[in-house]
Amino acid sequence: MTATTTWAHLPGPDPLPDAQVRERSADAPFGTVFTEHVVTLRWTPGRGWHDGTVCPHTTMTVPVALAGLHYGQVVFEGLKVYRQPDGVPAGFRVADHARRFAASARRLEIPELPGELFESAIRALLAVDGRWVPEGESRALYLRPTLYGAEATLALRPAREYAFQLLAFPTEAFFGRAVEPIHVWVPAHYSRAAPGGTGEAKCAGNYAAGFAAQREAAEHGCRQVLWLDAAEHRFVEELGGMNVFWVTEDGTLGTPPLTGTLLPGITRDSILTLASRAGLRTEQRPITLNELCSPATTEVFACGTAAVATPVGAIVSTHGRWPVGDGRAGPVTTGLREALTAIHHGQAPDPDKWLLRL
Ligand code: PLP
Ligand code: COI
Repeated sequence: MTATTTWAHLPGPDPLPDAQVRERSADAPFGTVFTEHVVTLRWTPGRGWHDGTVCPHTTMTVPVALAGLHYGQVVFEGLKVYRQPDGVPAGFRVADHARRFAASARRLEIPELPGELFESAIRALLAVDGRWVPEGESRALYLRPTLYGAEATLALRPAREYAFQLLAFPTEAFFGRAVEPIHVWVPAHYSRAAPGGTGEAKCAGNYAAGFAAQREAAEHGCRQVLWLDAAEHRFVEELGGMNVFWVTEDGTLGTPPLTGTLLPGITRDSILTLASRAGLRTEQRPITLNELCSPATTEVFACGTAAVATPVGAIVSTHGRWPVGDGRAGPVTTGLREALTAIHHGQAPDPDKWLLRL
């Protein structure tokens, strides 16, 4: 199947009235109110990707022996589409998300979805659900492409059939409209990813494995887990669903290096680009938790597709609570967040051509 292949359309209910789409999109918690359609594809040996279909968003029937369900052969992506000033929806760094999706698939022995097909699937979904792309500051349509082992088998090997699905939901920034600093929790015992593991792949199991620590975080009044390296539990890696940056008192912006145990965030890369362009000194280097929690650190923030750039107000562990700076959003965090969101919404030039008009 190629990018130019036409997509079959399955019949579904009548489209919702516009007023209802607007009403359903307003203030829904992250990932709870979905658009009306889903795009699907199948992969079978010898045929590759085929049967591209646009279907109503509804329940699906899967074999009880679904390979992906039993052995966790599941990868996904998360990217956003923003309404531009002229009304056209535009996806942010679509080709980069397609490349990371392919890299995650390779790590789990899943056949890659070619980048053109990834883009074509998004265009097919936007063609029917484009009116769900919300307008307004920090609002977007979040796209969730997923690939999973779809063969009905419990044989302990990679599946021989795969399915792709693309669903979407309108969203605010992950932590809500107000840019309130979040507190993060450093678990004493749990680890997210070890060298040679799946830390740099966006696979479903990484998230499930983090939920126990996420529960601890919530019990300590924190919104996210701050993961340390698995070997020594000293070096800061990333958050449960975001990368992490810090600013030191000399104004340098730092983030941990991509060692293979953390996700190579596309927002992380965008922020490094914007910071360098703004003349900030940037560094990618290991940092210990002790150094992060020292007076030399003036700002810490989390960044990702869902979170955009969210200030961290305090770091909490079994040793106590470390307030970052004065506990409020710092100027570097705020400046970078505004620079990035201005590009998202087409309010600033886009010299790197990060937006793809859809
Ligand atoms: N780290 C993890 C574990 C994530 O789930 C995400 C979100 O996708 C990120 C980092 C940030 O990546 P991106 O900026 O590409 O969304
Ligand atoms: C994203 O930022 O897109 C993610 O995938 C992480 C989110 C589920 C919290």
